[in-house]
Amino acid sequence: MKIYLPLDSAAVALGADEIAESLLFQAKARGINLTLIRNGSRGMVWLEPMAEVVTDAGRMAFGPLTLADVPALFDDLAAHPKALGLTDELPWMKAQTRLTFARVGVIDPLSLDDYKAHGGLAGLTMALGLDKAAIVAEVTNSGLRGRGGAGFPTGIKWKTVSDAVADRKYIVCNADEGDSATFADRMLMEGDPFTLIEGMVIAGLATGATKGFVYIRSEYPVAIEVMQKAVKIARDAGVLGNSVLGSAHAFDMEIRVGAGAYVCGEETSLLNSLEGKRGVVRAKPPLPALQGFMARPTVVNNVISLASVPVIFEKGAEFYKNFGLGRSRGTIPLQIAGNVKHGGLFEIAFGLTLGEIVDKIAGGSASGRPVKAVQVGGPLGAYFPRALFDTPFGYEEFAGKDGLIGHAGLTVFDDSADMLKQARFAMEFCAIESCGKCTPCRIGAVRGVETVDRIAKGDSTAIPLLTDLCNTMKSGSLCALGGFTPYPVMSALTHFPDDFAPMKEAAE
Ligand code: NAI
Ligand code: SF4
Repeated sequence: MKIYLPLDSAAVALGADEIAESLLFQAKARGINLTLIRNGSRGMVWLEPMAEVVTDAGRMAFGPLTLADVPALFDDLAAHPKALGLTDELPWMKAQTRLTFARVGVIDPLSLDDYKAHGGLAGLTMALGLDKAAIVAEVTNSGLRGRGGAGFPTGIKWKTVSDAVADRKYIVCNADEGDSATFADRMLMEGDPFTLIEGMVIAGLATGATKGFVYIRSEYPVAIEVMQKAVKIARDAGVLGNSVLGSAHAFDMEIRVGAGAYVCGEETSLLNSLEGKRGVVRAKPPLPALQGFMARPTVVNNVISLASVPVIFEKGAEFYKNFGLGRSRGTIPLQIAGNVKHGGLFEIAFGLTLGEIVDKIAGGSASGRPVKAVQVGGPLGAYFPRALFDTPFGYEEFAGKDGLIGHAGLTVFDDSADMLKQARFAMEFCAIESCGKCTPCRIGAVRGVETVDRIAKGDSTAIPLLTDLCNTMKSGSLCALGGFTPYPVMSALTHFPDDFAPMKEAAE
């Protein structure tokens, strides 16, 4: 008998380890030879812990499991109270286009054979037959843009590093996924680590870099462990090392662990931290692509950007490019969280409207109350009211509505949310996480909290002051932390003016 049960942190937080122990115990007691594979999550967090039992018809899903549900998994499966049907037939799975996450939840994350059996290393094998310029051209033609948030074209970044002349070059993967409501990087690393490794090796071939680092936040112990094991397996199998898959190319990599600062997700701060220095933002220029890690040309890409590369080489740039909308090509792993019925990871081509995501995919609010706002793009993202729910999910489309898609995390709020408090939270977050290097952010965020507090006390003269402060932070900050904090603040003020009205406190 074979059962898959996620090792994914969300599933573990919901009790997957206890379910695993119980499964092994029950199987032993019944004399059943059980193969238990700890896989990645399928992304339906509301159904975790979700076990999949392998049957002749396919993998059958059961969840959310409690310990009391375990014994019946060894009896009549169809009669099990938590039976959900075949996993691949579940509406959440059927509605997706899984390219980057195609193997997550499907394979044993640490089995290289399983990885290869599901298309793994096909992209790298293809890339090994191309020269540097052709690899860069393929990525450029795919239309892939940085999935960390900024959306900069990946091929152009790689070309800058490829064209730079230096004794050493580096590939740095930014896995310091600090945005609220984001978990795609973690899920990918926990569920399909070889895809990230493969993407980094291809980036090395494209640029002439021979060394890579994955900078993972310390809050991700499972991802750190899985990635460390996967790097060793890849090295032992000759995917990494002096001769990548028997070729004349060398590439090796290391896992490094961050110390828990949000700003270390900013690339220059991350590089300082990686070099053993304090995580303070560096001024740009010079771009990391020209002077990055140890002042050498460095590709700094997010996990999802790099993990999307293998499928581009496996299926071709044209295939990838055919998904999407406008200048947002390919697919995007949406991370849906907050007050929703169905939260989790949903990979789909760019272009769905925000309303379709919130109402159809997420199923509306968990509380059953009307949805008031969705914050898109993490703590620095704008709040979108229902009036803007027709906005299609794309970089330019969101920028056109004074927002950003960021790392594609969505936090949903019902009508009980107080948007003034959310604006205060944004300023407070910035004040706490500021690296302190520039004045608009270091001082501005503290003054921002005070100004929102004045508005809360009924001082409406503080509203233009808040707007003015936001403009200063937006145009005068050195990095996105100070520069983007005005997005949640100004969107809350613009779209929910009633929450900032002077009579509010009196009414309360
Ligand atoms: P940016 O716009 O300054 O740069 C984007 C990237 O392109 C950088 O890697 C930069 O070095 C590179 N680049 C720019 N011009 C280049 C050229 N000519 N050649 C080669 N490379 C070039 O944006 P930044 O500050 O890196 O990121 C801001 C974004 O980060 C925001 O949109 C925000 O959504 C996102 N963010 C994501 C977080 C997460 O947890 N994933 C957390 C906080 C912010
Ligand atoms: Fe540091 Fe804030 Fe300035 Fe960024 S905006 S460099 S986090 S002080």
